[in-house]
Amino acid sequence: MFKVAVLPGDGIGPEVVKEGMKVLKVLAENHSVQFDFQEMDINSERYLRTGKLLTAEDVEQLKKFDTIYLGAVGDDRVKPGVLEKGILLALRFQFDQFINHRPAPMWKPFGRLKRDMDFNIDVFRENTEDYYVGAGGRVQEGHGKLNLEIKRNLYDMRVQLQADADAKDEFAFEIGMMSRKNIERFADFSLTYAKMIGEKKITVIDKANVCSNIYGLWRDVWSEKCKHANVELSYMYVDAMTMALVKNPDKFRVIAAPNMFGDIITDLLAEVTGGLGMAPGGNINPKGISMFEPVHGSAPKYKGMNTINPIATILAAKLMLDNLGRRDLGDIINRGVRTALDQGVYTHDLGGKATTSEMGDAVVAAIRRG
Ligand code: IPM
Ligand code: MG
Repeated sequence: MFKVAVLPGDGIGPEVVKEGMKVLKVLAENHSVQFDFQEMDINSERYLRTGKLLTAEDVEQLKKFDTIYLGAVGDDRVKPGVLEKGILLALRFQFDQFINHRPAPMWKPFGRLKRDMDFNIDVFRENTEDYYVGAGGRVQEGHGKLNLEIKRNLYDMRVQLQADADAKDEFAFEIGMMSRKNIERFADFSLTYAKMIGEKKITVIDKANVCSNIYGLWRDVWSEKCKHANVELSYMYVDAMTMALVKNPDKFRVIAAPNMFGDIITDLLAEVTGGLGMAPGGNINPKGISMFEPVHGSAPKYKGMNTINPIATILAAKLMLDNLGRRDLGDIINRGVRTALDQGVYTHDLGGKATTSEMGDAVVAAIRRG
C-alpha cells in the first residue's frame, strides 16, 4: 500500500490530478498494488483565506506519506513569487528533493521541429541551490546591509552583505550559491542513472565563462565525478545548448543542469518534444519523500474548462511509480498513454478534440485492455 499525499493545487491542477488518480486507480484493479490517497489543500485558496503557505504542520503531516502527487501552484490574484516560493520551492527544499528529473522523449508525431527526429533525453536539474536559494534583497541610496539565511538539510548558512556604493541609487541582489556536497550527491545520482540506462556520456550545462565562481565549483565536482565513474563528460554553455536542443537534440541522451538553466531548457525541450502538455517531472530525494508534478503551471485561464492535456500529470504518476520501485507499473502507464494517442485520442494542444477527462478515460481504457 502506497500512501500518496495529493496536492491538487491551483488553476487546472485539480483537473489534471483527477485524471492521474484515475489512471493509478485502474492499476490497483489488477496489478497487485494499492494506493491510499489523501488530499491536502495547500494552495492559493487557502492562502487567500488564511494567509498560510506551506506550514510546519503541513510538513509534519506530509512526512506520514510515501510520496507526494502535485498538480500546479500559481494564481493571478497573488503577487508573483509568493506561492511559488512559499509552497512549491518550500516543498522541494523542506523535503530535500535535490534532483529534478525531467524526461523528454520525442512524442511522435507531436514534436514541433521541422525535421522528423527520434530521440529520448533525460534532464537532471539540480533542485535546491543555484539562483533559487532565495537569498537576496534591495538596498536604497547605495547603502544597506542584508542578513540572509539559507537553510537546507545539508547546512544552515548565514550570509551578511554590506553594500556601500558611491552612487545614490537603488541596488538589488540575488545570490546564487552552490555547495560541493550537494553537487556531489546530485552528480552521483545523475551518473548512476546514466549507467543504469547503459549510457556512457553526459552533457553538463552551465555558464562557467561568466559566472565562474558558482559554476567553477560545479565543474570541479563534475570533472572529478565523471572521471571516477568513467563517463565521458561534455560541458555546454546554456546559450549554445538552447540552440543545440532545437538544431540537433538527437545528439543528447543525459543532460545535467543547474537549477535555473534546468528550468529554462526543460520548457524548451517540452515544446520541442510535443508541448508542455506532455512533460512530467519528479522532485526526488532518493532517501526521503519525493514529489511528482507536471512541468507546466496552473494555467488559470483554462481552469474548469476540461480542455487541458492531462498527460504530463499522468506521466508524472509514471515517474512516481518508477521511484517507488514499481517500474513495471510505470511502463504500463507509458504504454497506455502511447496507445491512447495512437488511437487518435488527443487534446486541443496536440491538434485533437478530446477533453481532459476523455483523454484520461482513453488512457484508462488502454490500460484495461492491456
Ligand atoms: C518549474 C516552475 C517553477 C520553477 C516555478 C513555478 C517556481 O517553473 O517547476 O519549472 O522555476 O522551478
Ligand atoms: Mg519551469
